[in-house]
Amino acid sequence: MKNILITGGAGFIGSHVVRLFVTKYPDYHIFNLDKLTYAGNLENLSDIDNSPNYTFLKGDIVDGIFLNDIFTKYQFDAVVHLAAESHVDRSITNPLEFIKTNIVGTVELLNVARTHWGDKLSDKRFYHISTDEVYGSLGETGLFEERTPYDPRSPYSSSKASSDHLVRAYFHTYNMPVVISNCSNNYGSHQFPEKLIPLFINNIKNNKPLPVYGKGENIRDWLWVNDHAVAIDLIFHQGKNGETYNIGGHNEWTNIDLIKELCKIMDERLGRDAGTSEKLITYVKDRAGHDARYAIDATKIKDELGWIPSITFEEGLRNTVDWYLQNESWLNRVTSGDYQNYYENQYQER
Ligand code: NAD
Ligand code: DAU
Repeated sequence: MKNILITGGAGFIGSHVVRLFVTKYPDYHIFNLDKLTYAGNLENLSDIDNSPNYTFLKGDIVDGIFLNDIFTKYQFDAVVHLAAESHVDRSITNPLEFIKTNIVGTVELLNVARTHWGDKLSDKRFYHISTDEVYGSLGETGLFEERTPYDPRSPYSSSKASSDHLVRAYFHTYNMPVVISNCSNNYGSHQFPEKLIPLFINNIKNNKPLPVYGKGENIRDWLWVNDHAVAIDLIFHQGKNGETYNIGGHNEWTNIDLIKELCKIMDERLGRDAGTSEKLITYVKDRAGHDARYAIDATKIKDELGWIPSITFEEGLRNTVDWYLQNESWLNRVTSGDYQNYYENQYQER
């Protein structure tokens, strides 16, 4: 039995990774460490939380003493690190939280793993999950490759870039057995409705304006979250120490085209006349420092590990819309309380 620590497992991507590992690997014990910030929700894992090989640990990755206690108690063999502050808009309002969790928290985890693993590193692994935003913003052509120089431009992406550098520094300096992946925009079930797709599904459902930043011409490369989880599983087991793997869907959309597609699907699903939801589109003040385009070259993970996305975007988007419509109580619960304050502050003067 291996003890695997997954951080941020109550969040969007983390919950998919925890579910995959708990169900696929009965001989692993999965420990999910999460602070349960506004973005963490144990309801995301209600289907597996009674599994004998699953334990939830509530705690903060910035708290080194707590990390030391749980490492001492459970003797983790590996860490899959997803815990982070993850929303660009929140990083513009409050950068310091991002520095604490994304940078200091990552170093606390690296330190505790290093202390406990010592030089018995042969069967250990520290897997850091990162983002394509560390590479900056692309022009009309080109793709982010693993060797693309870092050029982060938001407090969020700068904090993730910094944590990536530190993880690599521990590989070179201390021989820490690390692996890193940088993924493009994820979509799917259980995503907190501050991010574009679930936010707009919720607003369309409630006939609220759809706040499109700038002209809606920014481009993102969308990947179904379950495909990201499968890639994480592969990299965790077959990736090489010290290496980076880019993960992406080869699926670029301008925001406005994606939003129109979403409006079309929502009209179908809600039985509204075609064109009804598009009328909710409202162009608002642009995001500060809004990156123009992200697009991943996922050749390395395809060639070396045989990973490709399993479903088309059209299929994934329809599944995603259906999940949010069928899980109205989840959506209502996560958008009650503090969410209303966040929403008003974020969108009031736009
Ligand atoms: P999320 O915001 O949905 O979840 C983050 C989780 O981390 C939450 O459960 C939260 O409670 C937990 N957390 C936050 N601060 C913590 C702390 N100090 N200690 C312990 N737990 C804490 O994020 P997500 O979208 O699931 O992203 C997960 C990871 O994947 C992040 O590292 C993010 O940078 C990366 N990533 C996200 C995307 C994307 O499109 N969402 C794409 C590429 C990479
Ligand atoms: O590329 C990977 C990254 O993708 C992850 O590292 C981040 O954690 C994740 O949040 C995501 O970042 P983005 O900023 O690309 O995602 P977001 O859903 O916030 O926005 C997607 C696009 O939609 C972006 O161009 C901004 C735009 N947008 C977003 C919101 C919330 C709007 O036009 N209006 C909005 O209200």
